[in-house]
Amino acid sequence: MITGSGRGIGKTIALRLAAEGADIVVNFFRNRRSAETVASEIRELGQKALVVKANVGDLKQLNYLYDAIDGEFGRLDILIHNAASGYNRSIMQQRAKGWDWTMNINARSLLFGAQRAAQLMQRNGGGSIVAISSLGSRRVLPEYVVVGASKAALESIVRYLAVEFSAMDIAVNGVSPGLVDTQALNFFSAFNEEEKFILNDIAARTPAGRLCIPEDVANLISFLCSPKASMIRGQIIVVDGGYSLLARS
Ligand SMILES: NC(=O)c1ccc[n+]([C@@H]2O[C@H](COP(=O)([O-])OP(=O)(O)OC[C@H]3O[C@@H](n4cnc5c(N)ncnc54)[C@H](OP(=O)(O)O)[C@@H]3O)[C@@H](O)[C@H]2O)c1
Repeated sequence: MITGSGRGIGKTIALRLAAEGADIVVNFFRNRRSAETVASEIRELGQKALVVKANVGDLKQLNYLYDAIDGEFGRLDILIHNAASGYNRSIMQQRAKGWDWTMNINARSLLFGAQRAAQLMQRNGGGSIVAISSLGSRRVLPEYVVVGASKAALESIVRYLAVEFSAMDIAVNGVSPGLVDTQALNFFSAFNEEEKFILNDIAARTPAGRLCIPEDVANLISFLCSPKASMIRGQIIVVDGGYSLLARS
C-alpha cells in the first residue's frame, strides 16, 4: 500500500512495485480520477489494484483504509508512507489549525497506520515500511516550518518503529529526496513566481547535475523493500544527487 499514490511520486512507486509483482492498494484523498487511472495501469501489468479514498490525517478514515485492505487482501507486505500535505506559510502566518492538519497527515498517520500495518504484516511473517521525508526536516526551507517539523517527527517515528518492529521482522526506514518536480511545488510561492529559473538553478547546483525524478525515489524504495536491504533499519537515506552536501546549496 502506498498512501497518496494517485499522482506524483506515490504513483511512480505504485507502478514500480506493481511491475515487480506486487498487488497494490492505491490510496487517494481528493483526486479519484487519477487514482483510478493508476489502478488501470497496475491491472494492465497483471496485478490487482484496490483504490481507497481516505484522508490519512483522520483516524477514522485511516482505520477505514486498513479495514479495506484487510477485507480485500487479508494481508499487507509493504507500506509506503508517502502522502503529505501542509500549510506553507511564514512563521507569523501559521495557525494552530494548519499545525494540526499537517502533523496529522504527515506524522500521526505513520504511527497509527504502522500499528494497523504491523497487525496485517505479522500474519505473513513480517514486511517493510518506508516513510518519505524531506530535506526540510533538518534544514530551513522558505515557508516550511510546519511541514519541516512534521517530517522531523516522521523521521523520529521511523527510528522508534524500526527498533520495536524488528521483533516482528518488519524493516522500517525513511527516504529523503531532494527537489522533485511534482504538483507539490505549486504550493510554494517561490516556485509559483519563478519556477523555471529556480528549478534550473537547483539542478545546476546539484553535484549529480540534475533534479531528482520520481524514479530515483522508486529505485531506492524497491531496494529497501527487498531482502537485500534486510540489515538496513531505522535509517533516513537521502537521495538528492549530493545537493544537501554543499555548504551553500
Ligand atoms: N516533490 C518534492 O520535491 C519532494 C521532495 C522531498 C520530499 N517529498 C515528499 O514526497 C512525498 C510525495 O510528494 P509529491 O511531490 O508526490 O506530492 P504531490 O504531488 O503533492 O502528491 C501528494 C499526494 O498525497 C496525497 N494526499 C495528500 N493529502 C492526503 C491525505 N490527507 N490523505 C491521503 N492522501 C493525501 C495526494 O492525493 P490526492 O491527489 O488524492 O489529494 C497525492 O497523491 C511527500 O511525502 C513529500 O513530502 C517531495
